[in-house]
Amino acid sequence: MNKLLISMLLTLGITGVAHAAGDAAAGQAKAAVCGACHGADGNSAIANFPKLAGQNEKYLVKQMKDIKNGSRPVVEMTGLLDNLDDQDLADLAAFFAKQATQIGHAAKDQVEAGQKIYRAGIAAKGVAACTACHSPTGTGNASAAFPAVSGQHSAYVEKQLKMFRNAERSNDPNKMMQDIAAKLSDAEIKAVSAYIQGLN
Ligand code: HEC
Ligand code: HEC
Repeated sequence: MNKLLISMLLTLGITGVAHAAGDAAAGQAKAAVCGACHGADGNSAIANFPKLAGQNEKYLVKQMKDIKNGSRPVVEMTGLLDNLDDQDLADLAAFFAKQATQIGHAAKDQVEAGQKIYRAGIAAKGVAACTACHSPTGTGNASAAFPAVSGQHSAYVEKQLKMFRNAERSNDPNKMMQDIAAKLSDAEIKAVSAYIQGLN
């Protein structure tokens, strides 16, 4: 076999490893620095810091890449991912995806309105039901990289919906979330965010 072919095969082999599924045990060791904000098991205690526990791997990897390359600016994480390669990100994602999500409680006065939006959308405004992509129980769609939202902090969800609405967050493929959020009022965002915090 000639040298070029061998080196090509080796490169392919190595690339194959880099794209292999993440290793959760290796991810745990790498996650120590993340715990300060996201919680050691990915269930952050602070409402502005998203829970990562139970989130699907594809979505986690996409967000980490978007944060790393600046297409989703997160000032709190500036520089933090710079020295991590694709395998590190896959390992971190595998670790957080394996953790159980701690579900919060939905504010009682918001549940009815929030549930209606989540399950049925708002037909008059052309807002699709959230269930279509995030599933009825909020587990998302792992193969499509649609995030789980079940049990997520309402303050974080509210902030994301407002950021999608004013295009401060614009890393969603085909503006899927920006188009939806643009049609939501503050009150509707508050209600659906409160509902999501208790959803499971
Ligand atoms: C100093 C606090 C801080 C540290 C440390 C930190 N993060 Fe974050 N992270 C944030 C904040 C704040 C956000 C959400 C920003 C926003 O509102 O959009 C975030 C968002 C994320 C998201 C997107 C979550 C989602 O639901 O979309 C991922 C994934 C993530 N961080 C992974 C990590 C990993 C992995 C580490 C460790 C290598 C880490 N973070 C360390 C503060 C931190
Ligand atoms: C057509 C599919 C689709 C529908 C319908 C949809 N979403 Fe999304 N949503 C997405 C995708 C895709 C993302 C992730 C974008 C990215 O990759 O950053 C997302 C992200 C989000 C996030 C950010 C999650 C995080 O951890 O940062 C929230 C919150 C959210 N959606 C809430 C909603 C709500 C509330 C509704 C209903 C009013 C809704 N979505 C309807 C596809 C959808």
